[in-house]
Amino acid sequence: MKITLSTSSPANVETEALVAVVLDYAEPAQAKNNSKPQLKVDSSDAAVQAAAAELLGSGELNGKPFETNLLHKPAGLKAKRILLLSGGNARKFKSYDLRRLAGAAARTLKSRGIRSFAFAAPSSVAAEEAARAIVEGVHVGNFDPDYYRSDRKDQKIDDLTVVASGDKAALEKAAHEAQITGESQNFARDLINEPSNRMTPTILGERAKKMCAEVGLKCEVLGPEKIKEMKMGAFWSVAQGSDEPAALIVMKYEPAGAPEKPVLGLVGKGITFDTGGISIKPADGMEKMKYDMAGGATMIGVMRAIALLKPKIKVIGMVCATENMPSGKAQKPGDVQIAMSGKSIEVINTDAEGRLVLADGLHYAKQLGATHLVDAATLTGAVVVALGYANAGVFTNSDEMYERFQRANEKAGEKMWRLPLDDEYKEQIRSNIADIMNTGGRWGGAITAAMFLKEFAEETPWIHLDIAGTAWMEEQKPWIAKGPSGIALRSLVEFVKDFEQN
Ligand code: BES
Ligand code: MN
Ligand code: ZN
Repeated sequence: MKITLSTSSPANVETEALVAVVLDYAEPAQAKNNSKPQLKVDSSDAAVQAAAAELLGSGELNGKPFETNLLHKPAGLKAKRILLLSGGNARKFKSYDLRRLAGAAARTLKSRGIRSFAFAAPSSVAAEEAARAIVEGVHVGNFDPDYYRSDRKDQKIDDLTVVASGDKAALEKAAHEAQITGESQNFARDLINEPSNRMTPTILGERAKKMCAEVGLKCEVLGPEKIKEMKMGAFWSVAQGSDEPAALIVMKYEPAGAPEKPVLGLVGKGITFDTGGISIKPADGMEKMKYDMAGGATMIGVMRAIALLKPKIKVIGMVCATENMPSGKAQKPGDVQIAMSGKSIEVINTDAEGRLVLADGLHYAKQLGATHLVDAATLTGAVVVALGYANAGVFTNSDEMYERFQRANEKAGEKMWRLPLDDEYKEQIRSNIADIMNTGGRWGGAITAAMFLKEFAEETPWIHLDIAGTAWMEEQKPWIAKGPSGIALRSLVEFVKDFEQN
């Protein structure tokens, strides 16, 4: 997508469509009495206000979020059309909402065959923040997963102009960075979207290698022999059952001038298909388990963004990629495995495989020098029970690291919610014959999974993101297609940038 930044007045922008944000300025008391919304374009531009005034004052609109109206030949504007997009209540409107409106604008216009538009930044959001949100949001909305449909329309936005007022250089920088993030998010979504026959561990490794070569990152893909040789017994226990060779993808970003420490280690779960193994899953819905590599794909996308944004901090990206299959070679419930760290694991359920591969990934990242760890994984159905589809689960052994992450998360406009990791939960994964078991019984399943990982992060400050409920949109929304969401990528990119600055 070509992105242009314009600081001229929105009325003077020549474009197929000018998008303007409409907010409801009615006081709460008025709203309660069911009185009409008081709708106004959130812009200081008088011509844009005027072009929309008649419709907004007509009483025909409800002003609820994502209400959409398209007017042709708007009087007083150089734009061919004006798209009025409601953002709801003016007092609650934030860059978070703006990002989603931008996605909705892209989806509305491209479905009409329009490939080029301008978005007038609303005046209630700080200009640079607005530019970022608009560019990121349009990228999110521009993605459609229907690659294998013969009737794929391939309608997309090719050209976006962000109209904002302020320091042009600063606005351009914000838009440029947002473009890198947005493209990287869609790069990750493309990987996640592929079915398991087209996204084997080997192919995931090749895609990572190709990306790394393009952006100047070091990348190594270690195969089954190396995984066994390094005594990654937990990772291998999952990989051993599959005919598809496992891949340990290691990407390194080591910019000149970066301090020796910290070194951030990003570890992703890369299960390219999760049948459950011998503890096999029911057939109903199993097809979804092609996205069990979403955490891994996200880390590959984050590495891409970092390589292009060039913060001065060392980052290691790692993906533990394998299928989880039943076979004559597959591990069985009750098997005991020795992880790379030396800890012994009783495998109660072969379907709790994500924590097994991550156990060795986290340990190896530390061995390679990571001083801080983040993992992302579609780890548990239990996190969906706890938080539903709206929030990803966050777990950590470090309040300080969490504070930094929360800041980044807020900036990125992704919803996540912290869940506890008290020592009490450790009881649930105690084993009679080994150091720990890989399941913790019925209750608090997302937490006991995180407790398992904590045994391998040990004292290293670490954040675990359980994205099982958020990595895949079960339904389309005005701002995003049904399919892979690319959750966590933006938060992690912001997090790395924050680490550089503080
Ligand atoms: N990949 C699944 C978790 C998952 C569930 C991802 C729903 C996306 C959507 C994971 O490997 C798994 O099977 N977890 C088990 C753990 C259980 C056996 C302790 C689960 O959540 O049922
Ligand atoms: Mn599983
Ligand atoms: Zn899984």
